[in-house]
Amino acid sequence: MDLGRLVVAVVLSAAILHSAVVGAENHHVFMDWEVSYALRSPLGVAKRVIAINGHLPGPLLNLTTNDVAHVNVVNTLDEPFLLTWNGLQLKRNSWNDGVAGTNCGIPPGENWTYVFQAKDEVGTFFYRPSLGLHAAGGGHGPIRVNNRPVIDVPFPRPDGDFDLLIQDWYNMDAAAMKDRLDGGRGLPPPDGVLINGMGPYGAEIAFEAGRTYRLRVSNVGARTSLCFRVQGHKMLLVEAEGAYTAQKLYASLDVHPGQSFSVLVTADQPPRAYYMVVSSLFVGPELYGVGTIRYAGANEHPPSGNAPLDERSSHNSYNRSMEQAKSIRMNLTAGAARPNPQGSFHYGHINVTRTLLLRNDESVIGGRRRCTVNGIAFANAATPLKLADFFRIAGVYTVVSGWPERRNLTLGTVAIDAAYRDFVQIVFENTLPSMQTWHLDGYSFFVAGMGWGKWSADARSTYNLVDAMYRSTVQVYPMSWTAVLVYLDNEGMWNLRSQNLERRYLGQELYLKVSQGNSSEVPDPRDEMPMPFNALLCGKAKSLGSWYKSGPSPA
Ligand SMILES: *[C@@H]1O[C@H](CO)[C@@H](O)[C@H](O)[C@H]1NC(C)=O
Ligand SMILES: *[C@@H]1O[C@H](CO)[C@@H](O)[C@H](O)[C@H]1NC(C)=O
Ligand SMILES: *[C@@H]1O[C@H](CO)[C@@H](O)[C@H](O)[C@H]1NC(C)=O
Ligand SMILES: *[C@@H]1O[C@H](CO)[C@@H](O)[C@H](O)[C@H]1NC(C)=O
Ligand SMILES: *[C@@H]1O[C@H](CO)[C@@H](O)[C@H](O)[C@H]1NC(C)=O
Ligand SMILES: *[C@@H]1O[C@H](CO)[C@@H](O)[C@H](O)[C@H]1NC(C)=O
Ligand SMILES: *[C@@H]1O[C@H](CO)[C@@H](O)[C@H](O)[C@H]1NC(C)=O
Repeated sequence: MDLGRLVVAVVLSAAILHSAVVGAENHHVFMDWEVSYALRSPLGVAKRVIAINGHLPGPLLNLTTNDVAHVNVVNTLDEPFLLTWNGLQLKRNSWNDGVAGTNCGIPPGENWTYVFQAKDEVGTFFYRPSLGLHAAGGGHGPIRVNNRPVIDVPFPRPDGDFDLLIQDWYNMDAAAMKDRLDGGRGLPPPDGVLINGMGPYGAEIAFEAGRTYRLRVSNVGARTSLCFRVQGHKMLLVEAEGAYTAQKLYASLDVHPGQSFSVLVTADQPPRAYYMVVSSLFVGPELYGVGTIRYAGANEHPPSGNAPLDERSSHNSYNRSMEQAKSIRMNLTAGAARPNPQGSFHYGHINVTRTLLLRNDESVIGGRRRCTVNGIAFANAATPLKLADFFRIAGVYTVVSGWPERRNLTLGTVAIDAAYRDFVQIVFENTLPSMQTWHLDGYSFFVAGMGWGKWSADARSTYNLVDAMYRSTVQVYPMSWTAVLVYLDNEGMWNLRSQNLERRYLGQELYLKVSQGNSSEVPDPRDEMPMPFNALLCGKAKSLGSWYKSGPSPA
């Protein structure tokens, strides 16, 4: 197809899409977010952080299934900035994923409006910055996607929802952290653990006796796995990253970097104040964050009794943590965003079309410490891969299909060529003595299995092929593997990344290019949205596209 025909086809499909998404039937949510530097001292040491509308955590993005969000981000920082929507599926719309492979950074002093739909989604998620080490300076906030009123929720409506963003914290400036990594050194252990951006006893939530609350917990930290518990109360796990779990009581729950869950907590104890405790897992020295749950009328400051910190050591067992992970299962009979039950997709009966074995490692490449996946440390290009595809700019990145591990370690800008509607097994193999956490944008996957040592095809006999959790971020224990199954029904360029900021910054990420494999055709807008009219252009695409951006005026 020549460029003229391409232009017409793309503009036409953009117009069709515009009317489909902006149609009157959807509810639209408009947010204006100003991103700025601010000073905070949660642990007594002032640090330059990233705030949104002056707040850290930033505002709640409160959506209902199928809502269309318009988030206008105004960047007042002195460097380009992007937010990404951790766990949202952004159906057909990797154009709004907000990572360096899909979007140009919003330049300092400028603004850009994300537009995306929470199509067929419910659950607990969060947003965070995606460029460089910005996320180590904050810039995050909670996302809720509520059920439409006509859809049943598999538990009684709670008397209140609380968003709890928990994290490890560095007193060190994010720019200094970046300098350390650029200089080939690693990050030191974090300085503490925060709850909603606050140090010890800062975070407080109010209970009324007899009521039941939904706590929506996300680990937005740099790299530390955390364990969450509430003194004197059991927690009923009901949801994780958009799927309803088989409801089960836990005394404590592990939350690895980038993961989210919801628990119901009933205020069924004597009406006083209780500790919420978040402790670090698998790092020394152990750190903890403490907040308060206060029943109406309770005046103690701080709560009476000792914070339940003494149990920490027993939590630091990888086996205990893996057993807990395996105990979290999906509720097959619950509906989620739509009335059909979550279990109606029998993933265990579908033949795997392809297995991708991804092994993380680290090495020195070109004199610098790097984190690799199958021997390649990802290097971001100045031109987002998505724009390179759209404008057919060659030489920006390499598409790999089969991906045997390389002996020869290199830096590379790579995307795995993945066929639309393939059913893929991804095996994350961790040969290092440290925890790993992996996240795939645009998707949830079934966490079919985990095991110690190296993965082999026989491991399938140990998989949960019935009610495995369906989520978007999964942990991989030291010297172990985690296998996930994913149905590639969302066309686009999707980031697959370590949720450990240090490891990701040093190269532990890549992209899955999910397409129908015919680059001479404009994707059908039913399969993938065309480039938005407001897309920012940069790198080799900077001067292209005026023909497109002046396209049909929005109806
Ligand atoms: C979120 O949206 C839902 C549905 O519109 C509404 O009922 C709820 O009050 C909102 N919550 C907050 C905290 O704004
Ligand atoms: C920037 O903000 C202005 C004013 O709010 C808005 O009209 C405009 O559409 C925004 N620009 C982009 C590219 O989203
Ligand atoms: C699963 O969901 C169903 C339907 O909403 C609910 O009745 C049932 O209690 C749930 N089961 C478990 C184990 O959570
Ligand atoms: C963890 O489990 C594995 C496999 O069952 C076992 O070999 C190992 O000794 C256990 N480790 C600990 C610390 O219990
Ligand atoms: C899966 O593969 C097996 C063996 O190749 C075949 O018999 C079966 O029909 C396939 N199932 C589906 C659902 O395609
Ligand atoms: C490793 O890569 C370098 C740089 O691309 C190349 O010069 C060298 O020949 C490669 N070595 C092997 C063994 O492939
Ligand atoms: C790709 O699309 C072009 C243009 O529509 C068509 O001529 C060609 O046959 C297609 N190729 C494949 C492999 O489907």
